[in-house]
Parts: sequence; C-alpha cells; structure tokens
Amino acid sequence: MLEIPNEIEPILEVRDLTKHFTSGNIFTRHVVRAVEGASFKLHRGKVVALVGESGSGKSTIVRMLARLYQPTRGEILFEGKNSLEGNDRLPLKMYRSRVQMIFQDPFSSLNPVHKVGYHIERPLRLYGMFLGYHGKAAIEQQVGELLKRVSLTPVEEFRNKYPHQLSGGQRQRVAIARALAVEPDVILADEPVSMLDVSIRMGVLNLMAELRDKQGIAFLYVTHDIASARYFADETLVMYAGRIVEGAPSEDLIQSPKHPYTQLLLASVPDPSRGLRTGVSVDKGEVPDLASVGVGCPFAARCPHVMDVCRKAMPPVTTLPDKRWVRCYLYENGVPQTQMKANGVAARQAV
Ligand SMILES: Nc1ncnc2c1ncn2[C@@H]1O[C@H](COP(=O)(O)OP(=O)(O)OP(=O)(O)O)[C@@H](O)[C@H]1O
Ligand code: SF4
Ligand SMILES: [Mg+2]
Repeated sequence: MLEIPNEIEPILEVRDLTKHFTSGNIFTRHVVRAVEGASFKLHRGKVVALVGESGSGKSTIVRMLARLYQPTRGEILFEGKNSLEGNDRLPLKMYRSRVQMIFQDPFSSLNPVHKVGYHIERPLRLYGMFLGYHGKAAIEQQVGELLKRVSLTPVEEFRNKYPHQLSGGQRQRVAIARALAVEPDVILADEPVSMLDVSIRMGVLNLMAELRDKQGIAFLYVTHDIASARYFADETLVMYAGRIVEGAPSEDLIQSPKHPYTQLLLASVPDPSRGLRTGVSVDKGEVPDLASVGVGCPFAARCPHVMDVCRKAMPPVTTLPDKRWVRCYLYENGVPQTQMKANGVAARQAV
C-alpha cells in the first residue's frame, strides 16, 4: 500500500465554486442556481463522497472540476495553483490528463463501433508523449497492463471485444482503464456504479479502492447511496439544493448526522448502524426548485426545526470538533441551539 503522509497539501482544492445556468425562453427566462459556494479539498489516496438527492448539483460540481463547465464564480486549485486563470496554470490538456472522469453510464460512454483496445489506446496516443510511450509496441503493451490492472483477463480476449459483448461491470472497468491510461492524480466518479447490477457494484468499488490505496489516486465519488459512501469514502459531503450543507468523516456522519437534511437522508436507510447495505437509495422527498430557492436556508421548507432566522439569511458554516462542519443555525457558534437554550443563552429564534 502506498504511504501517504498524514497532513499533506490537497491535490485539488475548490473554493466558493458556483454555477448559475440561465434557463427557459425569452418569456420564462430564469436563473437556476445549480451550485452555490462549494468549498472542499481532495487529497492523494483519499476518497471524498458527495451525496444528495436528484438535482442537488452533484454532477454540476463534477463537470466544473472536469473543466467541462466554466464556473460562474470560484476557484479550482490544482496542486495549489489556480487552474482557471493565471499565467502559471496548467494548460487545459494537461489538467484533463491529471483529472479524469468516469461517467455514470458505461453503455453510452464507450463507442459501440470500436473495440476495447481502441478505447484504451486512444488516450495513450493523445497523451503518450507526456507519459513516455512511443511507438505501437509500447502502447500495445501498456493497453495490456491496463486491462490486467482492471482485471479484464485474458487480455487478448478483452482487447478484441466490442462494448456490446461486455457486461455493464466489464464496460465500467474499460472506462476505468481508459481513465487510468493517462496516469491521473484525481478521478471524478459520477455515480460510477449506480447503473450496474447490485451484485457487481462491490467489485467495481473494490477496484477503485485498490487504485486509491496502491496508486494514491484521489477520488471524488458522487452517489445517491450513502451506504456505499460509508464503505468507500473517508469523508462525506452532503448536498442539498446547490449547497454543501454538511461535511464529516464518513463513519461519524452515519453514526451521528448533524444537519436536519442529513438526518432525513439517513432516516430513509433502514438501520444504517448494522453495516453496509449497498443499493439503499437516499433519494427521498421533493426535489427543490433551484430557480426559486430564496435567501435563507434552502432546507427551510422541509425542516422540522425551522426557525424565523432560517428564512432570513443563509446559515454560515459552523466548524465542529473532529473535522466536522455544518451549515445550520442549530449549531451556530458550535453549540446546538437546544443546548444553548438549556444554558440560558438567548436563541436567535426570536429575531
Ligand atoms: N446545462 C444545464 N442548463 C440548465 N440547467 C442545468 C444544466 N445542467 C444542470 N442543470 C440544472 O442544475 C441542477 C443540478 O443538476 P445536476 O445534474 O448537477 O444534479 P445532480 O445532483 O447531479 O442530480 P442527479 O442525482 O439526478 O444526477 C438541476 O436543476 C438541473 O436541471
Ligand atoms: S438552518 Fe434552520 S431550516 Fe436550515 S436546516 Fe438548520 S434549522 Fe433547519
Ligand atoms: Mg448527476
């Protein structure tokens, strides 16, 4: 297993990342606030999971990190340097070779007219000169190595198959081999197992865990399945209506969720303390309308603890012990408000 120093600089850091889309026609034009002020860090050999219901902005964050969408605001720092602007930023082609993406749908992400070998050769041909692969023989040998690394053996057999001759899990392994071809530091995995049969999800997750441990790859793992986040991710971030509302070490988040929305998510997972249950969806409740999210807490309409202040301004981030944080007035100043009341401290409810 690769030795990762304890506290190292993040490989990728996101600060105040924001994306607004303009939607509708001339009469119905409105702004969709898909992502507002997202900040987090990815470290080598660690996995950060991003969970949240449909439409909460997870894929928009991934696409901004993959540089497919231009952020409306905010910074993406790769190895400490702003990757969006500045003379010393990595050229886009280099950035994309170091930050790879795995898509949700292994069926549409591979071109049906090309064999497996072609899909993996292509990035080697595009980026081979940066990686030191010259000539047909070196590239073919590397394709073989990559197929072995994702357990698609016998190599010669898989190299010559077409995507339709593979199972969903095997296709996703080809997609992972293709991402690995350019020796990335970061992999953005947007629901990489959600379209696979439950029986083969664990195999693909284990493969990614091996890449994390042996190659020190940093993962951003997007999922609806909070149980798999617990299994695979060191840290879990919870997203609601474009905002990341809570962040914590994955196990702590499951054992003691702080934000009312995280509590609702976990309430939909039957008995999470009894171990991993892959395939349990956390997608519950109404999808918030991002075009009409107001000034206050986006969860106010559904929150059982809502207070007047919640509707007036976005709650600030409150840092809690043990590398946790939450964006909720219940924890303002680090103390749950119920405790503040018990201590005789005036609650902000009466604003
Ligand atoms: N290109 C676009 N133009 C306009 N609106 C968009 C665009 N892409 C995403 N959106 C909107 O941004 C919001 C967030 O979408 P996003 O795909 O990031 O959500 P998600 O959390 O990945 O959802 P899911 O779990 O269903 O994949 C949605 O309201 C979506 O309709
Ligand atoms: S800020 Fe208020 S509405 Fe939002 S989650 Fe906390 S208590 Fe609920
Ligand atoms: Mg998505």
